[in-house]
Amino acid sequence: MCGIVGYVGPRRVVPIVLEGLKHLEYRGYDSAGIVFLEDGALHKYRSQGKLVNLEEIMDEVETKSRIGMGHTRWATHGAPSEGNAHPHSDCTGELVVVHNGIIENFQKLRRDLQAKGHTFTSETDTEVLAHLIEEYLEKDLVVAIRRALQEVEGSYALGVMWAKEPDILVAVRNQSPLVLGVKEGGGSFMASDIPALLSSTNQVIFMEDNDLAVLDRNEVRIISLVDGAPRLREVQKINWNAGMAQKAGYRHFMLKEIFEQPQAILNTFRGRLDPESGEVTLPEIGLADEEIRHFSRIVLVACGTSWHAALVAKYWLEKWVGIPVEVDIASEFRYRRLLLGPDVMVVPISQSGETADTLAGLRLAKKMGAKVIAICNVVGSTITREALGTIYTHAGPEIGVASTKAFTSQLTALFLLTLYLGQVRQSMDAATRQELGHALVALPAVIDEELPRLHEELEGLAEQFIQSRDFLYLGRGVNFPIALEGALKLKEISYIHAEGYAAGELKHGPIALVDKDMPVLALVPPDDVYGKVVSNVEEVKARHGRLILVGSVSDEHLSSVADHLIGMPEVHAAMNPFLYCIPLQILAYHIAHLRGCDVDQPRKLAKSVTVE
Ligand code: AGP
Repeated sequence: MCGIVGYVGPRRVVPIVLEGLKHLEYRGYDSAGIVFLEDGALHKYRSQGKLVNLEEIMDEVETKSRIGMGHTRWATHGAPSEGNAHPHSDCTGELVVVHNGIIENFQKLRRDLQAKGHTFTSETDTEVLAHLIEEYLEKDLVVAIRRALQEVEGSYALGVMWAKEPDILVAVRNQSPLVLGVKEGGGSFMASDIPALLSSTNQVIFMEDNDLAVLDRNEVRIISLVDGAPRLREVQKINWNAGMAQKAGYRHFMLKEIFEQPQAILNTFRGRLDPESGEVTLPEIGLADEEIRHFSRIVLVACGTSWHAALVAKYWLEKWVGIPVEVDIASEFRYRRLLLGPDVMVVPISQSGETADTLAGLRLAKKMGAKVIAICNVVGSTITREALGTIYTHAGPEIGVASTKAFTSQLTALFLLTLYLGQVRQSMDAATRQELGHALVALPAVIDEELPRLHEELEGLAEQFIQSRDFLYLGRGVNFPIALEGALKLKEISYIHAEGYAAGELKHGPIALVDKDMPVLALVPPDDVYGKVVSNVEEVKARHGRLILVGSVSDEHLSSVADHLIGMPEVHAAMNPFLYCIPLQILAYHIAHLRGCDVDQPRKLAKSVTVE
């Protein structure tokens, strides 16, 4: 998605904006731009491609300006080009806007404005906003913005500057995230996401839909876009320092985040799980015990990796809570006939908390009276503010587009939810709860122990597959979703086609694919379907498939069958989904890196998909 950074204060604006945009690069973009105000005029610079191209331009620009904005664009309307890069100006060049979101009625607005004599210089929906505000500009920028946006349909996080009001920036938020930064004596900031602010301040304000903020060098003032009434918003202290959002010495954010998983899992259950009794407390869930006992079923809604976490949770919830669980891909959920009511618990799962399809599903579920409890990694994100309650994963900022620590943190939150619901509905006896609680408490240390070995071992294995064109991942039962997740990791960062399949489905078609060139990775942990998966693996072997098996390090039979065995320690079977996704993440990482792919910012992908 697009990235926005704005600043007004005592310091020079260009370095601050460029630094902020650098921390937003992970969002995926194809062009960048910056604007600052000096000597009564707006000075705008834009470039296609990576941010470094804009930085090279700005190296030649002398300015002492203290107010400005910057933008990284992920194209939605209009090809990636300098001309389509933000900021966009009105006809006079005295007003500029930067925008993230989609203006749904921009074609009509553009036609109307052209009929009034406005000339457009880009193919973007965003430029319409500059000319529309210009249409209403008289003496007061805020008034003009409020009147113009009444005609706009769609989503926007918007930054506006006007040369005739040289001391302020205006920020507007509607269905697209925007955070403000404040700093005593240090000026005011706006940004699309927290990492852009952290090197300057950790005091942030999460704007709500229809908030309009006026930023000057001393303060931030928020009013309603609709009626202009003042709106009070809490300043929140973010305990992520800028360093956390850096790579901390790792080659890529993704590798750093893979290695952060033990801590992320621990941080997610710490304070919620009694390590002795296995008892769970989830006060943030916002549900009374009676409501929890009243539920007739649970619906989990998510996209991508978060959907895989939901698929794993279905096995846990049905096994230990004894309640029917449906799992929906959010983009399907929102368009089918939903049968929901107050007796249904709907759980949207999202790392970013801004995924448009998941957010739409949340809103539909709420409208139908279901109890909506989110699982999310970003404090103050839209999904968390619209849900009844949120179980936060405490993974810290996940910068790599490919989700890793957020995924295992989501599994942790879902496991806690399983224990909690089992506790309240008394579907699980204390001994089982204690056994499961102990298994989770022991897990981070086990993963921590295995990470360096797997990282080294799998780099060698990866070299054999950098030319592969197809990959098959097999799993059964609670580990079938992990096969799906492993396949997604590989395809999204290495661009190798990979499919995850239920191992038992092999004979219903996919086995036709198997030959000596087709790597087949099968998850074969020592669990209750072990024997079944071994038979599936034998089917592959008989057809000369290249077998990579992930199973117990002491399993001699697997060693004899596999072309390569990725040996794993034996843990409680309930922990296998956490443990077995780790080698799949690392294998995908190494293959992608060895293929020279951009591991942290894979082509065509964005960290959070805030459009349909
Ligand atoms: C996972 O590696 C991908 N980046 C993608 O599938 C992601 O999980 C999906 O877009 C959902 O994002 P969310 O968790 O922020 O809602």
